[in-house]
Amino acid sequence: MFFRKNSKSHWDKIYSGCNRENLGWYEKEAKESLNLIVETGIKKNIIDIGCGKTTLIESLLEMGYDNITGIDLSEIAIGDLKESLAEYCDRVNLFQCDVLSLKLDEKVDIWHDRAVLHFLNSEKDENLYFDQLRRYLNEAGYFILATFSKDNKNRCSGLKIRTWDECEVLERLGNNFKLLKAYDQNYTMPSGDGRKFRYMMFKKN
Ligand SMILES: C[S@@+](CC[C@H](N)C(=O)[O-])C[C@H]1O[C@@H](n2cnc3c(N)ncnc32)[C@H](O)[C@@H]1O
Repeated sequence: MFFRKNSKSHWDKIYSGCNRENLGWYEKEAKESLNLIVETGIKKNIIDIGCGKTTLIESLLEMGYDNITGIDLSEIAIGDLKESLAEYCDRVNLFQCDVLSLKLDEKVDIWHDRAVLHFLNSEKDENLYFDQLRRYLNEAGYFILATFSKDNKNRCSGLKIRTWDECEVLERLGNNFKLLKAYDQNYTMPSGDGRKFRYMMFKKN
C-alpha cells in the first residue's frame, strides 16, 4: 500500500484544501481533552503539540486559561488559527514547528497531543519525541495523549500511523511517570465513519 510522507508540505496541502469542519479529526468541542485538562486542576502553561486548527485552544482561552502554546508542522494551520485567535494574543503563543526540533524558553505543566505522536513512524523519531517531552515537561506535570486505539486502521490522512497503548507509552516514558487513566473514545468523523481513539493521562513524578 502507498503511503505519503509525514511532512510540512503534506499538512499544508491538507489544511489549504479543506474547511476545518470537514477535517477527518475535527471536533466541534474537544470534550475528552477538555475534561482531562480540567481534571489536572492546572490553568496555565499548557502546550498543544500538533494543534492544527483545533477548537481546544479557543475553549481553554474562553475558560480563562493562560499561557497556552500551540505548535504545528503546518504553517497554513498555524496562520489560520492565529487569525481566529487574534483577540487572545496576550495569552496564546502559536508557531510553526516540528515537535522534534521544538525549543521552548520555559517548561510546561501540561503536554497535550491528540493524533500527532502516531505519525512518527521510526523508532528514532519516537525516541526524539519522548526526549523532548521529558525535557520540557515540569516535575508533577501531565502528559495527555490521544492516539488511534489498537483495533483501528493503521492509516490516517493518507499517512501510515502506529497505534499505541498505555503500556507501550509508559515503557518509553521511563520510571519518572505514572499512568493516571486510559480509556477508549468512539469518535465519529464528519464523513460519518467511526474511529476509536485511546486517551491516556500520565503524571511526571
Ligand atoms: C490528525 S491532525 C490532529 C490535529 C489536532 N491535534 C486535533 O486534534 O485537531 C495531526 C496534526 O499533527 C501535525 N503534525 C504532524 N507531525 C508533526 C510534527 N512532527 N510536529 C508538529 N506537528 C505535527 C499535523 O500538521 C496535523 O495538524
